[in-house]
Amino acid sequence: MINEPNLQVRVRRIPDGIPKVNDLEIVAGAVVRPGPGELLAKTIYLVVDPYVRSRLSGRHFDRQPQPGDLMLGRTVSQVIESRVDGVAAGDIVCIESGMQQYAVVDGSDVIPIDPTVAPLSTALGILGMPGLTAWSGLCVLDPILPGETLLVTAASGAVGSMAGQIAKLSGARAIGLAGSDEKCAWARDVAGFDACLNYKTSDWSAELARLCPDGVSVYFDNAGGDILNTVVKNHLAMYGRVLICGLIAQYNLKDAPPGPNLGPVVSRRAQIKGLVVYDFEDRRADFLREAIPWFQAGKLHYKEELHDGIETAPAVFSRLMSGQNFGKTILRVADDPTVKG
Ligand SMILES: NC(=O)c1ccc[n+]([C@@H]2O[C@H](COP(=O)([O-])OP(=O)(O)OC[C@H]3O[C@@H](n4cnc5c(N)ncnc54)[C@H](OP(=O)(O)O)[C@@H]3O)[C@@H](O)[C@H]2O)c1
Repeated sequence: MINEPNLQVRVRRIPDGIPKVNDLEIVAGAVVRPGPGELLAKTIYLVVDPYVRSRLSGRHFDRQPQPGDLMLGRTVSQVIESRVDGVAAGDIVCIESGMQQYAVVDGSDVIPIDPTVAPLSTALGILGMPGLTAWSGLCVLDPILPGETLLVTAASGAVGSMAGQIAKLSGARAIGLAGSDEKCAWARDVAGFDACLNYKTSDWSAELARLCPDGVSVYFDNAGGDILNTVVKNHLAMYGRVLICGLIAQYNLKDAPPGPNLGPVVSRRAQIKGLVVYDFEDRRADFLREAIPWFQAGKLHYKEELHDGIETAPAVFSRLMSGQNFGKTILRVADDPTVKG
């Protein structure tokens, strides 16, 4: 039995605009024992994902959390006690446990993690849900072809950086948009993008037109908002495709802003597709069969922003949703058993 409190992050009130620290609260709960078919696990790493903000605003297709609810969060955790066949105490798993130090979850929702393959936190980033998202979009939903040009927003983020690197591995050109010179330099110099433009300080649209006189073949959109409108209006190649993945630029807004004028979709004979990673869950093994060898051959690079302690979650969530994070936002909640010393 674990006789320590289980610190949890709970919703105090639905944020108005950029989340504030006191929109969330830290509450001491209890550690409970698993029932039949369940397991108890201790959180090692917790990812703070942008979609949680859209869930809080009630515009996500899934249920809107209410004040008092546990904040949503995916974790890499170590099993403490298992009543699930095939899962043993000590195993490392990826689970939807919410933001808390200990969680009891249903055994049907557990992704086993091989701790010898890559650093554990990558199971929340490039080798986890965000990586699967990029791979599903560019390798399954609308495969990118050699010689094509990809444009992707939030290029230093988990999904965006993976999208750019998949484009390069597929023989395509990768152009990113990111919110600081530091993020752009990382996308170019580390992740291998052909170009990355700072959309906050440059005339990125003019520069993009110069880099892609025939337009972009695939626009992988993580942001929505003004950038989406400008790309659809001015930068689609003939038969161009737009994959709408995320709309982070509008998650903090009360009401959805007006969308793009779709006239150019007609003149460019373009297509727009919505991408939802949950639709590709059955392809996770195929994704890892391709991505793990890329990772182990040094062909995949990733950026993380690591924070220590679950108590930092409210401030870190606010930081993420004001666009200040650089790389996947991860909280280290307990010592990583695979890291010595
Ligand atoms: N459709 C799906 O199934 C699916 C699955 C996973 C993720 N997503 C979506 O994909 C997008 C990227 O996710 P991720 O995991 O790669 O995120 P991430 O690593 O946490 O990166 C988030 C980045 O978004 C950018 N951003 C742009 N506008 C912003 C704004 N108004 N406020 C805050 N940040 C802003 C920032 O980069 P810059 O400064 O460079 O702009 C920020 O660093 C999100 O929209 C997410 O919801 C969708």
